[in-house]
Amino acid sequence: MRVALAYSGGLDTSVILKLLQERLGAEVVTVTVNVGQPEDFNAIEAKAYKLGAIKHYTIDARREFVEGYVFKAIKANALYDNLYPLSTALARPLIAGKVVEVALKEGADAVAHGCTGKGNDQIRFDLAFKSLAPHLKIIAPVREWGLTRDWEVEYALKHGIPVKSKVYSIDENLWGRSIEAGVLEDPMVEPPEEVFEWTVPPSRAPDKPEYIEIGFEAGVPTSVNGEAMDPVELITYLNKLAGAHGVGRVDMIENRVIGLKSREVYEVPAAMTLITAHRDLERLVLTKRAYDFKEIVDMEWAKLVYQGLWFEPLREALDAFIDSVEPPVTGTVRVKLYKGGVYVVGRSSPYSLYDHELISYFKGSFDQRLSIGFIELYGLQAVKAYRKKAGLA
Ligand code: ARG
Repeated sequence: MRVALAYSGGLDTSVILKLLQERLGAEVVTVTVNVGQPEDFNAIEAKAYKLGAIKHYTIDARREFVEGYVFKAIKANALYDNLYPLSTALARPLIAGKVVEVALKEGADAVAHGCTGKGNDQIRFDLAFKSLAPHLKIIAPVREWGLTRDWEVEYALKHGIPVKSKVYSIDENLWGRSIEAGVLEDPMVEPPEEVFEWTVPPSRAPDKPEYIEIGFEAGVPTSVNGEAMDPVELITYLNKLAGAHGVGRVDMIENRVIGLKSREVYEVPAAMTLITAHRDLERLVLTKRAYDFKEIVDMEWAKLVYQGLWFEPLREALDAFIDSVEPPVTGTVRVKLYKGGVYVVGRSSPYSLYDHELISYFKGSFDQRLSIGFIELYGLQAVKAYRKKAGLA
């Protein structure tokens, strides 16, 4: 049997790599997908071969991640439960797709992942695998063989798998950093400073605010301070800049798909900055009806992606709607980063619906008398009903 394993190089997937050989006599092909996690990919490859992989793939998917996933999330203002920019959730279908590509190329009979049976990631991987290559068997050893951390550590030590003392469970990519476990499992405990790596506490952020201008074209960011930037570079740059101002810390109780509540902490400086700026620009260029309806679409989009339903046709249908309203979301947003906050302080667009001539306190071109008749009809039923109630009382 041949298995393609989604391999991060961490403890779980390293133990799995060995176990698949030991328990199933499998030939294992390892696949590590670079979605912007700060890893030494050469070291991961060396580790995979040392633990018996017959072949290893490192796939740099950073650009594809940003253009095919993160940009869609920006256009959808994607925040699950209004807080989580879906960093981990967005990368899963991409990683699964790469594992499937390798599995097909290498003639594998199965695909494997290191997710537990308690989380969302198992759902995202499984549904992507089933959608893309239903003939491949799915092996999830942590879930199926009931592996526990203590057992894994002991097994690792016995088999020469290096074990780093690990307190938190961390998942990282270009769009964010997710931190779970350790003291964070007590929802009443404030996250200690040691869990944060991308952001400074607002109290240690510079006293001087940073002003930046983000340029958008058809809903996606294309420049910072007038300078065109490559998508990966732009997000990397904003993570550093906004993180240095303490922007992007999220601490939330999460409603997992399988019904459990969990506590997760996120660092998402670029995501918070870009989504805040993008939403503001939408308010300038979309009609109120389109904006209000899009809010509903956005919420549904975030829910689908969180819940592992990337391949559900509704997701693509929602993207089609979003893409049809985004072209005018083009222009510049002026953002102030200051002590943990992202503040939009200016915006402009060639598609702006803001009409200074009409709204100004100082100009007279709007015919104010039109409002008299408008209000009469606009409130007709509401006023009548209120008077009726008052008269009967
Ligand atoms: N709760 C997040 C999600 O479901 C992140 C999961 C991974 N988190 C982690 N710390 N390993 O998308």
